[in-house]
Amino acid sequence: PGKVTFTIIKPGAVERNLTGPILAKMNEAGFVIKALKYTKLKKEQACEFYQEHEGKPFYDYLTDFMSRGPIVVVILEKENAVADFRKLIGSTDPAEAEEGTIRKLYAQDKRENAVHGSDSDASAIRESDFFFSRVERF
Ligand code: CMP
Repeated sequence: PGKVTFTIIKPGAVERNLTGPILAKMNEAGFVIKALKYTKLKKEQACEFYQEHEGKPFYDYLTDFMSRGPIVVVILEKENAVADFRKLIGSTDPAEAEEGTIRKLYAQDKRENAVHGSDSDASAIRESDFFFSRVERF
């Protein structure tokens, strides 16, 4: 397994000033920040980022939400990064997430669920490349 994963702190969490607490949780769990940026997606860019979900019933809501306001995008490093990070964030739906997970603590609901985490090493690379240039990920 690879040593990096990619995460987004989503608009709902950034709006509610949860960026600091969420980054602290990631650091406390042993993840090291390799790249970080505050940015905002246009609707069409959100559609491109989430193209694998095109056609699903939640796609339009998801891409509206993800382009609603600023986000924080981060590349994180740790052994077994992808799987360990998915454990740290918990289930997509905070109602089903384990105690202590980032989504249990900070998500509003399964659509506005505070953070994204890559689902595979290949996704981590694709998603990192989507947001970061070579000089930003030294
Ligand atoms: P994320 O990890 O960013 O990847 C896809 C997103 O789609 C997911 O987080 C949720 O925010 C959203 N999502 C997944 N399943 C549903 C669903 N059943 N209804 C609404 N949104 C969903």
